[in-house]
Amino acid sequence: MESPETIRRHLEQTRALVDAELERVLPPAEEYPPSIHKAMRYSVFAGGKRLRPTLCLEAGRLFAGEEKILLRVGSALELIHTYSLIHDDLPALDNDDLRRGKPTSHVVFGEAAAILAGDALLTLAFEAIAGAGNGASGRTLRVIHELAHAIGTIRGMVGGQVVDLETTDSTGDAARLEYIHSAKTGAFMRAALRSGTLLTAASQDDLARITAYGEKIGLAFQIADDLLDVVGTEAELGKTIGKDQQQHKATYPALHGIEASKRMAAQLADEACAALAPYGERAGILQGIARYIVGRRQ
Ligand code: FPP
Ligand code: MG
Repeated sequence: MESPETIRRHLEQTRALVDAELERVLPPAEEYPPSIHKAMRYSVFAGGKRLRPTLCLEAGRLFAGEEKILLRVGSALELIHTYSLIHDDLPALDNDDLRRGKPTSHVVFGEAAAILAGDALLTLAFEAIAGAGNGASGRTLRVIHELAHAIGTIRGMVGGQVVDLETTDSTGDAARLEYIHSAKTGAFMRAALRSGTLLTAASQDDLARITAYGEKIGLAFQIADDLLDVVGTEAELGKTIGKDQQQHKATYPALHGIEASKRMAAQLADEACAALAPYGERAGILQGIARYIVGRRQ
């Protein structure tokens, strides 16, 4: 497995590639009507680890996928992720004024513009994938289906968000909490990995292993996110902390305690790594990312 330092450097390199692709995919700020394009660009380029594009890219690379299409789909993932963050921060949802260390979209551009910027990013993501023109349209169609489902209402991002909003009792049951986490955050991460895989000639067994890895790290990521809301700092995270407790959110630390949550996240990272053991050293980066996710401070 690759060392944390190697993973950090690797994430940096991928971020530069993804950002260059996002530049190509997003309309210029001055494109008419400029207000919406400015708002879209503001949130996309506000920072962010580009973790989901990296997962797509690394899964695709593991099975010798074509870099160009992987980057295009990776950039689309970041557009979708950014849409979800803009909408999540809206006054009607989490009502947050800080994200990625900057004022949120609705604070800068107003609520109407923030809603529309989110809508536009979501739509642009599918335009970018469908328009990639890679001569393998069957594969891109599968990716579109995969992603649309993962961010939809049935065990997908919107479904998870709905149950999250409807859950105000932090001591709720463990099954509901797992549903929220796996639907709200896990499904999209899993889909990022599966999309990278679907763009290659990988076998069904390969897809199953990547899916297992994705499920584990998706949940581990959200447990780490819950923990950071308790033990992280605003300076490191670039967003308001302590909000889960304030809003009586159902979280892993609230339900299981801090130490047990840490152990669960570490155990999930172990299991994620084990799922990729058949690939030996070729899976070193993805295994390193699993560790990085549970050890991250931002
Ligand atoms: C932080 O990602 C993001 C999450 C933990 C995901 C939370 C889920 C939502 C906001 C779903 C919202 C859904 C709707 C439909 C509004 P990150 O740490 O990778 O952030 P970064 O990209 O800034 O690094
Ligand atoms: Mg939220």
